[in-house]
Amino acid sequence: MVERRILVTAALPYANGPIHIGHLVEYIETDIWVRFQKLRGHRCIFICADDTHGTAIMMRARQEGRSEELVIAQMQQAHLQDFHAFDIEFDNYGSTNSVENRRLCGEFWQALRRVGLITERDVAQLYDPQAGTFLADRFVKGTCPKCRAAGQYGDNCDKCGATYRATDLIEPVSVLSGATPELRSERHLFVKLDELHEFLADWTQSGDHLQPEVANYLQGHFLNEPLKDWDVSRPAPYFGFEIPDSPGNYWYVWFDAPIGYMASTQQWCDRHGERFDDWWRDANVEIHHFIGKDITYFHTLFWPGMLKSAGFSLPTKVHIHGFLTVGGEKMSKSKGTFVTAETYLRHLDPTYLRYYYAAKLGPRLDDIDLNLDEFVAKANADLVGKVVNLASRAARFAETSGLSPTYPDDGGLFARAAAAGDDIAQAYEEGDFSRAMRLIMELADRANPYVEAAEPWNLAKDPRRAQDLQDVCTVALNLFRQLAIYLAPVLPRLARQTGELLQRPITRWDESQTPLLGNPVSRFQHMLKRVDRKDVDRMIEDSKQTPAEESAPTPAPSQPLLDEPLAPACTIDEFARVDLRIARVLAAEDVPEASKLLKITVSLGGTEQRTVFAGIKQAYRPEQLVGRLVVLAANLAPRKMKFGTSEGMILASGPGGSHVFLLTVDDGAEPGQRVH
Ligand code: 2FM
Ligand code: ZN
Repeated sequence: MVERRILVTAALPYANGPIHIGHLVEYIETDIWVRFQKLRGHRCIFICADDTHGTAIMMRARQEGRSEELVIAQMQQAHLQDFHAFDIEFDNYGSTNSVENRRLCGEFWQALRRVGLITERDVAQLYDPQAGTFLADRFVKGTCPKCRAAGQYGDNCDKCGATYRATDLIEPVSVLSGATPELRSERHLFVKLDELHEFLADWTQSGDHLQPEVANYLQGHFLNEPLKDWDVSRPAPYFGFEIPDSPGNYWYVWFDAPIGYMASTQQWCDRHGERFDDWWRDANVEIHHFIGKDITYFHTLFWPGMLKSAGFSLPTKVHIHGFLTVGGEKMSKSKGTFVTAETYLRHLDPTYLRYYYAAKLGPRLDDIDLNLDEFVAKANADLVGKVVNLASRAARFAETSGLSPTYPDDGGLFARAAAAGDDIAQAYEEGDFSRAMRLIMELADRANPYVEAAEPWNLAKDPRRAQDLQDVCTVALNLFRQLAIYLAPVLPRLARQTGELLQRPITRWDESQTPLLGNPVSRFQHMLKRVDRKDVDRMIEDSKQTPAEESAPTPAPSQPLLDEPLAPACTIDEFARVDLRIARVLAAEDVPEASKLLKITVSLGGTEQRTVFAGIKQAYRPEQLVGRLVVLAANLAPRKMKFGTSEGMILASGPGGSHVFLLTVDDGAEPGQRVH
């Protein structure tokens, strides 16, 4: 077999939320395909990264009072943990916020400029004056301009399905702050996609880069009219990469996200001493993207357009899958069907889900339904009942004898299953995993009756039949191993366990074609337990959120917190180092040479007095202050100023200027008292 070189990607998950069972359809699908290719002996690399830029991350960071870098670093850890737990094995997992990505974005940008594909014009966009940011469509809600349904997002209406611009919403409200957005016009940069029309029409409609229904959809919805310019910039503030030749503007997250595939490849190349161009500019390398149908446009029009313009290889194939439904409905937090990877793992073995999705995934774009009864039934009937059972019923009778030195007569079972290998491989290759699983289970259905009829447990009772027993076990364990090899892309753990049981690791697909003979057999270790329906119910219960939690928009951070995020924690001892005291203002006078300062003399009781220069002139007149109680930071080191020495600080809030607010002290407090 000729060795293929295959670069595979799955869509980069956003860094602003955890991995859930909807995401897992794609990562499991892609991981299966990659493992299959590797098992076949091809050179295949699985590349992914976190998608880290954009308004959502920026707002989350502000809200949590942390830097964006910290938010995305922690989310990446969480993602990696989940992927690892589900046996999703990347060759490199990067981040779009990497030096490699910034450099490659620059390279793409220069190429697009060079071929004259960039243009600019003003765009009116909704701006939240309170949050101080432009609002992406999903950050605006209002009344649908078409059907007048209230509470609709800025891109399309949930009720009537209309799509529109956020600026068309009636009575728009910012989801961030509740403020009424303003319309502001800013310069944006665009890619003139229609200049690539001919190329894209040709690329999408020829060869088999796309599933036929995708090619038809693109033809019918986009390619029979001019392609719209693609807005690839966002004005500050924005978390992303600033466009080098357009200061104050940032590449839109969807510009740098797919380039992230390449940046992550670059990291892999650097680690393995490979040349980047050998993967992204070599016609002999296959490039396969796996994505969900919601991001078709980006991957089938923008992305090939960008690759073409910058002189990189085009995707060999974009594999597009449908959405996940649970019990025939959209995942829902109130129904408990919005299950995060983490919650799943607290209750169930990942193997079940890998198998269930494999059994459901076909080469088309149909949605995949997770039916919980079927989920339980399939795992128990197929994995435990048909596959693992085959091993568990035979292995312990072969522990001492090992496998027979020659392959016994099995009525042609092994040979038939070996012959099915090509068909199964083809199903995997085509992404028709459900067919592959069906074919494999058919083989299991033939193997099990053999063991049932041969009754090794009865043979074991009669020492004169030791040879028969060894032969029966040799057949059963070889048939089992064959299944484990065919299932290895889906169930890597089972493949590992099988390798340990028969003391020969499974490394190649071809190993399914020859029986193992004379091998020792290890002590049988438990492989997979049956699913308990109660665990499934507990997982759903655990995932339930009240409708209020689900629909409540993320509470908006207040502007002061946005302007000045909360400081890191300090200990009570650290806090106590500042000696705060009640003080009475004895005198206050203007400092004529300073625009902001008043000179204030306060008493701490008895003869203790302090003089303080406070920047509150625009907010308070001196006579308003005399006689009132204030809070003084009394042990600050004296500070020499132009007009004298300030011996403390009077506590106040506010941004400054006329917006300064002294802390008031309730009646009864006395000068000199400590504030705790
Ligand atoms: O839709 C999404 O979740 C995006 N984060 C996918 C990006 S895929 C690629 F283009 F980076
Ligand atoms: Zn509507």
